[in-house]
Amino acid sequence: MDKSALTATAEALVAPGKGILAADESSGTIKKRFDSISVESTEDNRRVYRQMLFTTPGASDHISGVILFDETIRQSADDGTPFPKLLAGQGVIPGIKVDTGAKPLAGSEGETVTEGLDGLRERLAEYYELGARFAKWRATYTITDSLPSSYCYDVNAHALARYAALCQEANIVPIVEPEVLMDGTHTIARAANVTAHALGALYRALFDQGVYLPGTLLKPNMCLSGYGAAEQASDEEVAKTTIGVFEYTVPAAVPGIVFLSGGQSDEQATARLNLMNQMGPHPWQLSFSYGRALQAPALKAWGGKPDNLGAGQAAYAKRARLNGLARSGDYKPEMEAA
Ligand code: 13P
Repeated sequence: MDKSALTATAEALVAPGKGILAADESSGTIKKRFDSISVESTEDNRRVYRQMLFTTPGASDHISGVILFDETIRQSADDGTPFPKLLAGQGVIPGIKVDTGAKPLAGSEGETVTEGLDGLRERLAEYYELGARFAKWRATYTITDSLPSSYCYDVNAHALARYAALCQEANIVPIVEPEVLMDGTHTIARAANVTAHALGALYRALFDQGVYLPGTLLKPNMCLSGYGAAEQASDEEVAKTTIGVFEYTVPAAVPGIVFLSGGQSDEQATARLNLMNQMGPHPWQLSFSYGRALQAPALKAWGGKPDNLGAGQAAYAKRARLNGLARSGDYKPEMEAA
């Protein structure tokens, strides 16, 4: 493990004014996104769409890294340049999703454990050769009156820590992603309690397994009311509650926290990140690793039509720029209209 290389990569990923694009949708997820714009999910359509994002002029001013899927890290631009090389040439760090998905947790109906540890050491070595310098592993937690179980917190934390240790052995920065899902009718207070338990279990497991925290990043949910809750917490409550949970659970040795957007609207995801940064300084950088909140307008503007590639890039560039401003608390909702 090269601690200084890991730290340098983690710090570069959360450099001021920049954040991460999550473009690592699995084949099933990208098909759902393409279905929403009536575009067939062929390998070449997926390549053309991701090329549109990766060649957006100026995006690298606000994007420090891109998370790729296994298929995408092996694809190339029209001129034959492999995507990882294309990104690295713009100073954007290539990353890779390495988990193989959240699977039903045996003995606990309604819960999942994330798989992908088998053969991970060998896969990481190959991804490093292909240019990846960071990775992602996502665990999910569902809230009901009786869930998550402590069993679910423990097994997911254990797997996340095993993944993180293997990444660091391969000189790849692990992003650990425990995602508490928004589905349900729970209050923001319940989401905060569950998020604190998930993070508490995670940092205990990372400590127990000797993971080097300065060479990691955390990718959490914000604490939100459930989608179906009678009352939705305000942006200010979301920001305050989320920071309050992190202050109790995320060690100061972690260089950065990069949020997932998890079903928030693009504008909410930006506004809430902005508010949290206005509440700083914090012990960690607060940044973004958005999938939907960076891509949704671009996907719609593109609509699968070659003539709309410029419009798709403009939509993506706008979200990248506004989230870049939210890094320093300098975003203003009026900027959406500009
Ligand atoms: P969303 O921002 O769309 O939640 O995606 C981020 C991600 O990478 C989830 O694993």
